[in-house]
Amino acid sequence: MKGQMVLVLAAIAAVILALASDASARPKIVVLATGGTIAGAQTSTKEVGYKSGTFKVEDLIKAVPQITELADLTGEQIVNIGSQNMNNEVWLKLAKRVNATLKRDDVDGVVITHGTDTMEETAYFLNLVVKSDKPVVMVGSMRPATATSADGPANLYNAVAVAIHPEARGRGVLVVLNDEIHFAREIEKQNTTQLDTFKSPNRGRAGVANTGAVHFFNKPAALHTTASEFSVEGVDVLPRVEIIYSYANLGRDFIDCAVEKGTKGLVLAGVGDGNSTDPALAALGDAVKKGVVVVRSSRTGSGLVVRNVEIDDDKMDTVAAMELNPQKARVLLMLALMKTSSPKEIQDKFSKY
Ligand code: DGL
Repeated sequence: MKGQMVLVLAAIAAVILALASDASARPKIVVLATGGTIAGAQTSTKEVGYKSGTFKVEDLIKAVPQITELADLTGEQIVNIGSQNMNNEVWLKLAKRVNATLKRDDVDGVVITHGTDTMEETAYFLNLVVKSDKPVVMVGSMRPATATSADGPANLYNAVAVAIHPEARGRGVLVVLNDEIHFAREIEKQNTTQLDTFKSPNRGRAGVANTGAVHFFNKPAALHTTASEFSVEGVDVLPRVEIIYSYANLGRDFIDCAVEKGTKGLVLAGVGDGNSTDPALAALGDAVKKGVVVVRSSRTGSGLVVRNVEIDDDKMDTVAAMELNPQKARVLLMLALMKTSSPKEIQDKFSKY
């Protein structure tokens, strides 16, 4: 009898040990939640209206029970907002948190839940200031958590699968949605409501992720994370940079106003190849003479803006955004302005990042 007892206890101990070692063998992923539609709730499932950032990080994880087979997850709520309200302050807080989390030996990667509206900007910002090769994967959804066929749970599952994939290391910040993986620098939101809103128009997707099966196609095209010169260490405020949208009949007033209000940099969301009206260009030229750095980007959604095509950048002392759309050009310009205000040196950064 006593012998049997000992055997039973030994068997129980063996099972407990096996479970414990199994758990410790699973990768450790920290989910940093910021809100967005993925955490959004409708008042009625029959209506399109909903409120972003309603559910907490624990609810998002609980909605995908199978995720715990992939990794050990812990969640942390950074903010709970619609990403239309994302701002420089939250970016700095988030970036510092990502860096501190990835420094931990017991963490293998970070997944960030975020609204899709400004996901590309946050992703690109982190891509330039995260100091780790460990995976950082951003994820959102186009339908709120309460919707019929909500896409958030499948997206979150795929995001964790990407974060634990050995090939995700060293690719910079990645974005997962609609079974696709995109690079932070390449991704753009291109549709207001459809599930396939994210495109990488210039260089294509990083890969695909379907029910947790991950395939990478590409490597990042520019410097990022550990190879980036930018850091948020000790930074509390980013230099002010505004975007001016160009259109037929644009005058100079908004440009003059931005300069008067003390902006340090201006990004032109130009027509075509980063172009604008004569009055707007005259105002931008005057801004440059006052020490404001002017970057020409394009409102078209794809393609390059290079130097000296229709506009003589050498003469105007302006910077060409190359492949960056206006909202990403703003991110790089803010970081670049912390290093220099020389248009020449800033042009060099637009060619590198
Ligand atoms: N306002 C939105 C945001 O949080 C909704 C879009 C989304 O999350 O998909 O970005």
